[in-house]
Amino acid sequence: MIIESELNKMRENYEKGNFNIENAYPSPFNQFEKWFEDAKQAKIIEPNAMVLSTATKNGMPSSRVVLLKGYSEKGFIFFTNYNSRKGKELFNNPYACLNLWWGQLERQIRIEGIIEKIDAKESDEYFYSRPLGSQAGAATSPQSEKIESREWLEKKFIETQLKGNIKRPENWGGYILIPNKIEFWHGRTNRLHDRLLYTMIENEKWKIVRLAP
Ligand SMILES: Cc1cc2nc3c(=O)[nH]c(=O)nc-3n(C[C@H](O)[C@H](O)[C@H](O)COP(=O)(O)O)c2cc1C
Repeated sequence: MIIESELNKMRENYEKGNFNIENAYPSPFNQFEKWFEDAKQAKIIEPNAMVLSTATKNGMPSSRVVLLKGYSEKGFIFFTNYNSRKGKELFNNPYACLNLWWGQLERQIRIEGIIEKIDAKESDEYFYSRPLGSQAGAATSPQSEKIESREWLEKKFIETQLKGNIKRPENWGGYILIPNKIEFWHGRTNRLHDRLLYTMIENEKWKIVRLAP
C-alpha cells in the first residue's frame, strides 16, 4: 500500500520553460500545432492521446482516452463507435472537453467546445486506411456493451475476418470537436505556472488572457 507520506514526496518542480503572451501565436490552432510538433520531437509515447470528457444530459461526466486523428482551423477529430457510452452521451449533450498532458514537456492543453459527427465520406476514408485487423476489430466490437466473455469476442472477430469484405459500420466514424476555448498550460517553478486561455470572440477571432495558476 502507498502511504500518504510517500505521495506527499511525489512532486516535480517544473523548470523546462515558460509560455507568455509575447510568444503565443494569435491563433490557438497555430499554437496547438507548435506544441504538438514539440511533443512529436520529444518522442512522447502516443503524443496524440487525449482525454475526452463528455456528460449526460443531466451533467454526469465521464472521461476516457481517444486518439487525435486530425485537426484544422475547424476543430479536432477522433474516431469511435457512435453507440458507445461516449456516443450516447454526445447524442444527448454535444458539449465536450479534450485534455492533452505531455509530462516530459510539462505542458497541458484543454480544449472545450461542441461536437459534431464528420461526413460519412471522411469516416470511410479513414476507416479503409486502417489495417485490416483494426477494421475487423471496429466491425466486431459492440463498444461499451456488456459481453459474455473474451472467447465470444475473439470468435466474433474471426467470423468477421472470414466473411471478408468488411464495410465501415454505420455506427462507427469520426467526430469533430469545434472549440470555443483552448487553454495552454506550462509548468513553472513554485507552482506559479503559465496559463494562457484563448476564447473565440467572433468570426473566428480569438482573444488571449492569462489565468492564475
Ligand atoms: C491510448 C489510448 C487510445 C485510445 N484511442 C481510442 C480511440 O481513438 N477511439 C476509441 O473509441 N477508443 C479509444 N480508446 C479506448 C477508450 O479509452 C475507451 O475505452 C473506449 O472508447 C470506450 O469508451 P466509452 O465506453 O466511454 O465510450 C483508447 C484508449 C487508450 C488508452
